[in-house]
Amino acid sequence: MNLTGAKEQLFNAELREQLDAWVAKYPTGKAQSAVIPCLHILQAANEGWLAKPVMNALADYLAIPAISVYEVATFYTMFDLKPVGKHKINVCTNISCLLNGSDEVVAHLEDRLNIKLGETTEDGQYTLRQVECLGACCGAPMMQLDRDYHEHLTNDKIDHILAGLKS
Ligand code: FES
Repeated sequence: MNLTGAKEQLFNAELREQLDAWVAKYPTGKAQSAVIPCLHILQAANEGWLAKPVMNALADYLAIPAISVYEVATFYTMFDLKPVGKHKINVCTNISCLLNGSDEVVAHLEDRLNIKLGETTEDGQYTLRQVECLGACCGAPMMQLDRDYHEHLTNDKIDHILAGLKS
């Protein structure tokens, strides 16, 4: 796959190698199947979020319509379309977590971070969000911090997790 100009700046050689490795896992002409892992790679390389030029460049790179990238990026809460904090905190508020105290988890995090759901702390360290079931219902209430799940949350446990991030 060939890139020119701005796209070369968006996708350096190291990124292209990573993208190509995923594209190679699928049959010729089925590059669209690699959209999700490619978006993960590009999001990680772009401060945790996906700007429109990056998504457009991926569509060009995979030779698929831009809408095929947008529809994936906008569907999953694991992809962010605007700037986010260094750490993403996703609190599940779906039924199992709700019945086991997710309201208290949200309230405690909002209090500790001094932000509301959907906001990012002024220092750019944390973005706090509400998400649907993350498939860890037996550990309710739970949250995802970056790529890690934390289950059976209590206020003390949350404080301990946040303290660990700062140290
Ligand atoms: S309801 Fe929270 S992980 Fe499933």
